[in-house]
Amino acid sequence: MTPPRKLHIKSYGCQMNVYDAQRMVDTLAPEGFVETANADEADLVILNTCHIREKASEKVFSELGRLRVMKEEAARTGREMKIAVAGCVAQAEGAEITRRAASVDVVVGPQSYHNLPKLLAQSRSGAPAIETEFPIADKFASLPAPKPAAIRARGVSSFVTVQEGCDKFCTFCVVPYTRGMEVSRPVATIVEDVKRLADNGVREITLIGQNVNAYHGEDANGQTWPLGRLLHRLADIPGIARLRYSTSHPRDVDDSLIEAHRDIPAVMPFVHLPVQSGSDRILAAMNRKHTAADYIQTIERFRKAAPDIAFSSDFIVGFPGETDQDFSDTLALVTQISYAGAYSFKYSPRPGTPAADMQETDTALAVPAAVMDERLAQLQALIDAQQASFNRTAVGQTVEVLFERTAREQGQIVGRTAYLQPAHVMASEDIIGQILPVTIDSLERYSLKGRLAATHAAGTPRMPSILLDSCNGA
Ligand code: 5AD
Ligand code: SF4
Repeated sequence: MTPPRKLHIKSYGCQMNVYDAQRMVDTLAPEGFVETANADEADLVILNTCHIREKASEKVFSELGRLRVMKEEAARTGREMKIAVAGCVAQAEGAEITRRAASVDVVVGPQSYHNLPKLLAQSRSGAPAIETEFPIADKFASLPAPKPAAIRARGVSSFVTVQEGCDKFCTFCVVPYTRGMEVSRPVATIVEDVKRLADNGVREITLIGQNVNAYHGEDANGQTWPLGRLLHRLADIPGIARLRYSTSHPRDVDDSLIEAHRDIPAVMPFVHLPVQSGSDRILAAMNRKHTAADYIQTIERFRKAAPDIAFSSDFIVGFPGETDQDFSDTLALVTQISYAGAYSFKYSPRPGTPAADMQETDTALAVPAAVMDERLAQLQALIDAQQASFNRTAVGQTVEVLFERTAREQGQIVGRTAYLQPAHVMASEDIIGQILPVTIDSLERYSLKGRLAATHAAGTPRMPSILLDSCNGA
């Protein structure tokens, strides 16, 4: 029997990439690949890249420089290491990657991961194999399902893609070009996936898509379901205790989604709803097709349906032509809403997008770097203060925590609250996979410390937030 080959995947960017990395592992498992955490012992290293902002793609090329050295080192000891570039940089740059980094063996766009085994075989000829075919209609159907053991190893919380792509064409964004137009998965295949996950110990599902609340998948009768209806169906699957979804666009928040928050206890009261700017002038230039007032109204609809709901958002500072007044409109919106957390970014021109072209034609529109830095610092300070204050309200409360794994400190188990805050308790490993009430004693940086509450009081309040890593979309 040939020994297993080792596979190392390094993912950048959004939750979709985390999910896709798992699908790549599932696709390569029948080829004899097993995952390793160490790139230097891998037979295949895949960089699963992100193109959303400048730094994200530049990181890929510096990582490729490091991998070239590792590959040469391996060759000296008679071992072959293959390097593949996947994700949105692969899609956007294609063959340019192999021109800039000759050590790359495979370039594969997000629509073509099912072809990884074939591409690896092709690359044996010595020339790099490149596939950025786009778009592939049955992409979802062509990926293999994970094996039960793989699901169990991945823990109690899982992502499930329900939608991919985006037709919104915000003028700053590359997603419509790298991930293509919106496609929704049929209801039945999502239900099947979630049942399989639940049967193997998953308790929490995050439905993901670049524009997840534009979901419009078909059921067996050809009827189209909105996201709210899908959430209802998934909440009925035994074992599923928590449902989340990300990333949403304010324009696609329909009544079904609002009602899902009102009616389904499993739908968590924490919504990532990017607004990007508080200035109507900038929102129009971004082609967001909503005003600040529309956004606030949407937030109010959620709050009316689920009073314990909290929000996070994404912001861009220094969009071409952004004035001091536009920026103060953003600060005013943040102040009015009060977020549990948010991501803020400096505008970075993405080649081929309308905003980048606009700024290139009229260089006076470019916001000077020093002004961008200053605005980013100011916005982040405001958001940090809101986040800290939100998190402090947890202290002294008893809240529900879904326990996920052992923590670094001996004897500690870590889980997440309804608002995704990490919460640590001293307890036995038996509690992993359970949702239990925890009395919060303190807040340490971004995580909560507490103890298991003596009794599980009915109606334990759900509570406040710390964010996951930056995510893509909407
Ligand atoms: N420059 C800066 N930030 C961007 N984002 C998307 N494109 C750009 C860009 N060109 C941010 C948006 C989006 C998040 C995922 O990344 O805020 O919501
Ligand atoms: Fe689509 Fe979001 Fe990009 Fe806008 S920012 S084009 S909604 S992915």
